[in-house]
Amino acid sequence: MSQTQIAVIVGSLRRDSFNRKLATAIAKLGPADFSFTQVQIGDLPLYNQDDDANQAEPVKRLKAGIAAAQGLLFVTPEYNRSMPGVLKNALDHASRPYGQSAWAGKPAGVLGVSVGAIGTAMAQQHLRNVLAYLDVPTLGQPEAFVHAKEGLFDANGDIGPDSRKFLQGWMDRYVGWVKKHAG
Ligand SMILES: Cc1cc2nc3c(=O)[nH]c(=O)nc-3n(C[C@H](O)[C@H](O)[C@H](O)COP(=O)(O)O)c2cc1C
Repeated sequence: MSQTQIAVIVGSLRRDSFNRKLATAIAKLGPADFSFTQVQIGDLPLYNQDDDANQAEPVKRLKAGIAAAQGLLFVTPEYNRSMPGVLKNALDHASRPYGQSAWAGKPAGVLGVSVGAIGTAMAQQHLRNVLAYLDVPTLGQPEAFVHAKEGLFDANGDIGPDSRKFLQGWMDRYVGWVKKHAG
């Protein structure tokens, strides 16, 4: 069975990140022919256009990870009503040098979990704006604004029973989206 590779980009570097837990748990709801790999963005330098002709090793690694994937999954918190800087930094790095973006054409899904009441809605909208410019076809529905509440994860770190049906439905739509766009 040939595998569809998904590069997972988590917008939090926090050790006990809810978003990293969500990224790990939702990957288990994917089909057997989908492989989800979290790409590292925490060691990327701050983006500097002067370095475009000589990208640092972590940048090359990020771009290779994206190039090897047929799809993208972004799982991000909301910081001050937008996406975290570490995520924007990663988006900028892999979009360059001009004309050599790693993102273009890769189908994507966007998810996020927050302790706040509107559950990453603003961060996701800002991210969608950037992804549209980067020519990344992004699943529109269902939207997933997950609230970090008791029981979201079970004792094994899997999605808890209250959220499982919704997130399985999300994953099923995402898989269809990737298959449609990855060709
Ligand atoms: C700098 C900063 C800004 C934040 N701004 C928001 C915000 O705008 N909206 C929101 O819902 N939560 C906000 N939060 C709270 C996050 O939802 C919470 O810290 C969450 O646990 C972060 O995700 P993580 O667990 O994956 O690291 C903010 C947290 C930090 C540290």
